[in-house]
Amino acid sequence: MQAFTFYSPTKIIFGKNAEEKTPEEMKEFGGNRILIVYGGGSIIRSGLLPRMEALLKEADLPYALFGGVQPNPLLSHAEKGVQEAVAFGADFILAIGGGSVIDTAKAIAIGAANPDQVLWDFWEKKASPKRTLPVGAILTIPAAGSEMSDSAVLTNTELGSKRGLSGDWNRPKFAVMNPELTYTLPPFQIACGITDIMMHTLDRYFTTQQGNGLTDEIAEGLLRDVMANGRKAMENPKDYDAMSELMWCSSISHNGLTGLGGNKDFAVHQLGHTLSARFGTAHGASLSAVWGAWANYVMDRDPPRFARYGRHVLGLTEGTDLEIATAAIELTVSYFGQLKMPVSLGELEQGVLSEEMLVELTDICLYRGGRESIGTFKKLERSDIYEIYRAANR
Ligand code: NZQ
Ligand code: ZN
Repeated sequence: MQAFTFYSPTKIIFGKNAEEKTPEEMKEFGGNRILIVYGGGSIIRSGLLPRMEALLKEADLPYALFGGVQPNPLLSHAEKGVQEAVAFGADFILAIGGGSVIDTAKAIAIGAANPDQVLWDFWEKKASPKRTLPVGAILTIPAAGSEMSDSAVLTNTELGSKRGLSGDWNRPKFAVMNPELTYTLPPFQIACGITDIMMHTLDRYFTTQQGNGLTDEIAEGLLRDVMANGRKAMENPKDYDAMSELMWCSSISHNGLTGLGGNKDFAVHQLGHTLSARFGTAHGASLSAVWGAWANYVMDRDPPRFARYGRHVLGLTEGTDLEIATAAIELTVSYFGQLKMPVSLGELEQGVLSEEMLVELTDICLYRGGRESIGTFKKLERSDIYEIYRAANR
């Protein structure tokens, strides 16, 4: 087993009506004045927000509301949230929503604790946050894993850049997970979530540092569980057990556990973030659109690893390593297809892209010259990235 550090301090409150415990959890973590961050209105329509407001009033917790977070959340909106948090004197940020809302809450927490620093400087690594406000999350969609992760991803529209900021200060103090809160999700968002959950483990599983037995077993078990329960949730979005599995998998897939001892690859995420930065593509769709092209391009780096994935996750038995590896990629792409996720660039809203656009995407993917390569399983330089986009451009 390779050396690793594991730190996952987020307290999990899981189950029916779990959100009712939120006020006492916020108090435990020092919350006296709460900024509630939410998205485009799903929690108003579902009645969750009014219920939470009533609970906060009952608990004598003053709060202010900051809604309007959009998918692929914007830096400019987070900056407004920082102003709101400072003006209100918030000492705790409560996110109610998915990855976009939680990431915005994390950004607001950092900005409010460091009001003299330009917020984006942290994302560009020109400064490192020395402090942040505590953040708690009520999760409404199993997907990004931000509820336990150390990362916050923002889009800077002025620079046309979408990027993450990682550090242990980003880990929420607690995450409330009531699977019933997902029942209002549209099928597309459920499918995006399943894809993203799988990808957080796949982007760790394909690693050059192997020999981490338990890590591999956890990763493979999680992938089997997500794929099986993903099918059930797509058939019946109110299947409590299936949604429970997806919700817990979303957190475990991105809190570090499924990659302990291995170096993360995350090239597929970077290829996908580029599509989201350029076209506003939903995160899950940005990943399924390129995964097959990526996998076929890098597979020759380690066919036995892809074959192990085929055997342990997809139950393939017949054939050589190379045959099983190839079949495993095909089966995974076909699973995304069954979820009605795009499996090529041509299936995204923009349709098949021009050569010039592929060059531009390649440039954005490398932070317009700010980076030489992406990924670790197989290091991808400019020409590799271009080839992957080209192969996906069907
Ligand atoms: O905004 P509202 O109205 O709430 O609607 C949202 C949004 O339109 C809707 N939704 C969420 N819960 C719902 C619901 N609709 C009905 N019923 C519910 N219960 O779903 C839409 C998508 O929400 P979003 O928060 O964007 O989804 P997700 O959780 O997939 O988050 C995606 C964002 O997280 C980032 C992605 O890049 C993307 O910006 N990620 C964050 C990570 C992290 N911080 O660790 C890691 C990930 O790899 C990812 O990059
Ligand atoms: Zn992701």
